[in-house]
Amino acid sequence: MNALFYGDNLSVLREHIKDESVDLTYLDPPFNSKANYNILFQTPKGQNSQAQIEAFKDTWEWGEQAEREFKELLHQSNTDVAKMMAALRGFLGENDMMAYLVMMANRLLEMYRVLKPTGAVYLHCDPSASHYLKIVLDAVFGKKGYRNEIVWHYGQRTAFHKQHFSRKHDILFYYAKSDLSTFNPISETWDKEQFLSNRHDVLVDENGIEYIWTDGGKPGERYKRLVEDVISAGKPIDSVWNIPLLNAASNERLGYPTQKPLALLERIVKASSNENDVILDPFCGCGTAVHAAHKLGRQWIGIDITHLAIALIEKRLKDAFKGIKFEVHGTPKDLEGARDLANRDKYQFQYWACSLVNARPAQNKKKGADGGIDGLIFFQDQIDSENAAKKVIVSVKGGENVSVAMVRELGHVVASEKAVIGLFVTLKEPTKPMQTEAVKAGYYVSPSFPDKQFPKLQILTVEDLLKGSVQANLPPDLAQGAHTFKKIAKEKKASNQGVLF
Ligand SMILES: C[S@@+](CC[C@H](N)C(=O)[O-])C[C@H]1O[C@@H](n2cnc3c(N)ncnc32)[C@H](O)[C@@H]1O
Repeated sequence: MNALFYGDNLSVLREHIKDESVDLTYLDPPFNSKANYNILFQTPKGQNSQAQIEAFKDTWEWGEQAEREFKELLHQSNTDVAKMMAALRGFLGENDMMAYLVMMANRLLEMYRVLKPTGAVYLHCDPSASHYLKIVLDAVFGKKGYRNEIVWHYGQRTAFHKQHFSRKHDILFYYAKSDLSTFNPISETWDKEQFLSNRHDVLVDENGIEYIWTDGGKPGERYKRLVEDVISAGKPIDSVWNIPLLNAASNERLGYPTQKPLALLERIVKASSNENDVILDPFCGCGTAVHAAHKLGRQWIGIDITHLAIALIEKRLKDAFKGIKFEVHGTPKDLEGARDLANRDKYQFQYWACSLVNARPAQNKKKGADGGIDGLIFFQDQIDSENAAKKVIVSVKGGENVSVAMVRELGHVVASEKAVIGLFVTLKEPTKPMQTEAVKAGYYVSPSFPDKQFPKLQILTVEDLLKGSVQANLPPDLAQGAHTFKKIAKEKKASNQGVLF
């Protein structure tokens, strides 16, 4: 059983993940770099980028939650962590960095608890907080747990700066729970030409005898054989990893701003786990670690605090692995669950409801042109014309009161935004007058499907969408792939699936 959880990883770990049940944890938490991440959905030509939406804020503040979590740290059983956090608070004071470190320490303790004695953790961060995080990791794992500080060097294009060198790397701290921790040495392929062109290689045979390629001399037979041995053994990977960032044209790229390359995650999974092992990513974003885990025949658990990420991963995995099966926890499964989410968090409810009709959530915080738009779908029912992308506007209603005026309002927004269809997604059953109002709006007739009529305003209930008994009635998209989320390439080999817990 592979599983995705929507929620704060602290409570998901505490409530759902058993002690010593995980073989490898990779975590790529927000870095406290003060960035606001936007989900930059693919926007078709001719459409503006209003569909950008904040996935999460990479900013912490000292407040009630930090104070409460700090107290928890003082009263748990790892006294090294308690002492370290108290010392850090004395040094840093009550500020955003301290709030961030408190958040991380509490979660790292849970990650330590769920790790098997043979397990390991890779914590991905950047130099904004890496110096403090290493101290926290030392306290959680003990200094003996430290294995490597890996530099992921991703920069190709560097620039001149007035006051510092170009910053082109992230840090990965690799800590093991014990000396029994799984580690599979991994290698890269040598570039033979480059290897042979280096005339100062010194090779050592099995008896410790050194063979030197002397300048101007010719390599002897023994030296040549040693070269072949070294080349076939591969080049051991060291602690500086040169793996390029995903560029804008990469097939892998989904538009999630902090998405990491699969090559990076595959290296970690191969080095520190074996087939069928359980991989955990408690800050899973768009799911690169779970993708790598699945591809390499591992089991996996992904946790993220936003529905956007969970919806994106669901789609990513289904695109990449035909027939893949996994569980999704924490997202509403029935009307009651949907109502509960709507009451707890209006925005998360909107994100989730948008995923029911495959819409991208729209930025909806400010009034004005964006008012009434909770989600967008783009499609292309005409391939050979300029600006062929058509727009569908989604309006989500999570309240108990819905009215004819709201349907009418959606009709106005569809017209003013030059969209072709409006979807009214509602938790509450629509009234008869609302349905009549929607029918009055008429139909959109697509140039490519002149015999079909697509209602201009469609009212869809959350309950029916959840049951799968209805779906939005939209013209088929004639372009490659749907416009809402980028489609990831299908993986050639799906992995074997085993049992998780
Ligand atoms: C840097 S991104 C991870 C990117 C990921 N490695 C990838 O390749 O897509 C961090 C993620 O952590 C999530 N997050 C932040 N705080 C969280 C929390 N307390 N519990 C679970 N997820 C959280 C954010 O929603 C975001 O998706």
